Amino acid sequence: MGVRVSLSSLASAVANEGGIGTISSIGLGDIEASKYEYEKISREALISEIQKARSMTDGHLAVNFMGVLSNVDDLIKTSVHEGIKIIVFGAGLPIKLPILVEDNSVNLVPIISSARVANLILRVWDKRYGRTADGLILEGPLAGGHLGFSEEQLEHSEEYSIEKLLPEVLEVIKTYEDKYGRKIPVIAAGGIYDGKDIARMLSLGASGVQMGTRFVCTKECAVSQEFKQAYLDSKKEDMVIIKSPVGMPARAIHNYFLKDLEIKGKLKIKCPYRCLTACKVDTARYCIALALINSYLGDVEHGLIFCGQNAYRINKIITVKELIQELLSELKEV
Ligand SMILES: Cc1cc2nc3c(=O)[nH]c(=O)nc-3n(C[C@H](O)[C@H](O)[C@H](O)COP(=O)(O)O)c2cc1C
Repeated sequence: MGVRVSLSSLASAVANEGGIGTISSIGLGDIEASKYEYEKISREALISEIQKARSMTDGHLAVNFMGVLSNVDDLIKTSVHEGIKIIVFGAGLPIKLPILVEDNSVNLVPIISSARVANLILRVWDKRYGRTADGLILEGPLAGGHLGFSEEQLEHSEEYSIEKLLPEVLEVIKTYEDKYGRKIPVIAAGGIYDGKDIARMLSLGASGVQMGTRFVCTKECAVSQEFKQAYLDSKKEDMVIIKSPVGMPARAIHNYFLKDLEIKGKLKIKCPYRCLTACKVDTARYCIALALINSYLGDVEHGLIFCGQNAYRINKIITVKELIQELLSELKEV
């Protein structure tokens, strides 16, 4: 979870409980210094997060990348160089990923939101590079942050539920599983809240789940207390879909920042970074990196608070260990 939500402390705690802890590569490093040397500062900050996480766990770590980042290739190469073995790639088609990561011991895991996109990626990788995915994260419409659906599709989210999408994805990957003689695990994500949800996903054929929202309200999550409190205080009606300068819809908590934006229409942007290829600075209504960093730091009045659809159901902050134990005991019960 970016920006700065899933960093070394959260990722290593998850890895220590037997999960795969994912570090977000997005928007890292000193903001002032980034004005002059954006790529270098982001690279060094990512190296530091990976090394910190490594010092806290021997478990499995992944790094998440967004295809729309202007320096995504550099960040991916950096992570591989730092020994990361799981590359998770979303917000853009990872067509060139196998060229960037030639090392076959590194697992390539694209995030997809439909069987059509899964098939497209796997077909191109097979034809061009003779390689297939090592896993796929199927993210449904209830997830947090940027979503791989149109606003119209999100209005009819039941039609695109993971329950509906999962069998379709499992069907299209069969060809590649047969050809490459191995399973391509599909990890379900988006709105998975408790052990019962995990059991349902596994019974439908998922190999695992990816959870975001619930891990925001853990002690190890890097965001400010104000960010976590916004989750605890939120109500169902506060979960809204917004237009992001990234060019995709996203889910966030309706707060002062969003109300202010609705009134003003556009906030002032000064951008020396050019962190997103998709962001048109002249016409963008706000700087999404700054808005997310503000919330991370605790200035939620001037910040965007990404969340999954189920954020309003959370009522306590617990440790990662407690959360995972709770999930596992619910799963066992089911
Ligand atoms: C605060 C927040 C930030 C997120 N940032 C990213 C991101 O930077 N990249 C990404 O691929 N997914 C991101 N996501 C999506 C999560 O990785 C995850 O797939 C999704 O939220 C799962 O749904 P859940 O939150 O209902 O568990 C984010 C989600 C949240 C809640």
